[in-house]
Amino acid sequence: MEKYKNFINNSWVDSEYKETIKVEDPATAKIIGEIACAKKTEVDLAVNSAKESYNSRILIDMPLLERAKLMHKIADETRKIAKEGGKILCYENGKTLAAAIKEFNDVADMFDYYAGLTDKLEGKTIPVSSNVFDYTVLEPFGVSAHIIPWNYPLAMLGRSLACSFATGNSTVIKTAELTPLSATVFAKAIQNAEVPNGLINIICGYGNEAGSYLVSHPDVNHVVFTGSVATGKKILHSCADKAIPAIVELGGKSAGIVFPDANLDDVVESARHAIFGVAGQICTAMSRLVVHKSVKNELVDKLVDLSKSLKVGPGYEEGSELTPIISKNQLEKVEGYARSGIQQGAEAVHGGQRVNREGYFMEATVLNNVTQDMTVAREEIFGPVLSVLEYQDTEEAIKIANDTDYGLGGGVFTKDLNKAALTASKMQSGQVYVNKWFTGSHATPFGGYKQSGYSREKGIQALNAYLQIKNVGISLV
Ligand code: NAI
Ligand code: MG
Repeated sequence: MEKYKNFINNSWVDSEYKETIKVEDPATAKIIGEIACAKKTEVDLAVNSAKESYNSRILIDMPLLERAKLMHKIADETRKIAKEGGKILCYENGKTLAAAIKEFNDVADMFDYYAGLTDKLEGKTIPVSSNVFDYTVLEPFGVSAHIIPWNYPLAMLGRSLACSFATGNSTVIKTAELTPLSATVFAKAIQNAEVPNGLINIICGYGNEAGSYLVSHPDVNHVVFTGSVATGKKILHSCADKAIPAIVELGGKSAGIVFPDANLDDVVESARHAIFGVAGQICTAMSRLVVHKSVKNELVDKLVDLSKSLKVGPGYEEGSELTPIISKNQLEKVEGYARSGIQQGAEAVHGGQRVNREGYFMEATVLNNVTQDMTVAREEIFGPVLSVLEYQDTEEAIKIANDTDYGLGGGVFTKDLNKAALTASKMQSGQVYVNKWFTGSHATPFGGYKQSGYSREKGIQALNAYLQIKNVGISLV
């Protein structure tokens, strides 16, 4: 069994007490590797190395085209290890091999995209008076700590790291304890790209130990978190205690509204990827469908056909479509939600329980006749469980879609683009997908309304949250 280490100051560091975190293949429940478990000592080392690199100004003073070239080099090196890393990601997370390799390539795209913006972060001159010359400069915060979830271990790492690096911050990444191995392969790309010491550190430890210590560390100046609302709030409290900024993306309970004129096959294709892909462990999962009464039966039949057709299996087996849930705990949680939906009056027209085989597989589950008072309609399930709700008039559909504490994604299915735009304008969510879930790219801003968080990742404006503004006034007298 291979043993992985933490990547600190460009070297591989074991943990002081030799403790390790064992990593499972969720398709078989077998241990596939282990990683040195970072604790206080290793967090201190990583933060100090980031702080030193920041204080050395190596990235800040680097000519910006050089910084951009270095980022392109990281992108190239990441593409070179995409196959090797993708395989490990596929094993530790469970998702399909193609999706896992794509995640590495997405990281490379992020670095290429933000590389092109490094020298376009312009300040302003501000008229004050004829004898004052006043200007602004955009500057990094210093040490930026990123806490990564297990559902998209590489994509989440890449989107925040690329911004952090492009803006001149030094970064400490804490990967998720369920999926830390693939990020260490990525660390090899950092080494191969000859990134100066300390600018990027990647460690793994438990959330309530290394994670909470990292975000509350006195030398951390900025935090990025993607994960659950409960953990996000704890992290925001830590940041408030130190008065430092945080970027938080906290999941969702996203609804797609299906109008009577919708192409129902489009809805089914979206369900295939957006609720059954990655076993539904997606922050913007299409977890509710709010369907017009006139087309509900037909759509439910199609969703049942889709659910029946999905090939259940590990991500590394050719043709697998319904891959495992990340862990025993998460499977129990997801199964518990499905059971609660049935107990509260929903009808499981397909699925409803775990698959009877090794590993942590959950049946593709379609719950019909769900109402907004049910737990399955309100809480983030994070599994392949789709709730179908019925509506009669458009205002009612929008009300149902918005009746949630979350506000990450939303969808509209209709051939009438006028109606789509009007509906999109009334949806309380950071993104709205029309006729196809996941239309975005590295260039489109992504983030939440309400309890789904704030700030935006991806796109040009994401960079703003990694920068602070310095105003300089020169007296010309
Ligand atoms: P979590 O939010 O607790 O974990 C995400 C990351 O935060 C991990 O790296 C973990 O080590 C770290 N963490 C945990 N506690 C921390 C703390 N006190 N301080 C600093 N870092 C900490 O999510 P968890 O427990 O793995 O899953 C629970 C639920 O969260 C899931 O069922 C799902 O509903 C939701 N979730 C949502 C995600 C999203 O993208 N929206 C991603 C992962 C989980
Ligand atoms: Mg947790």
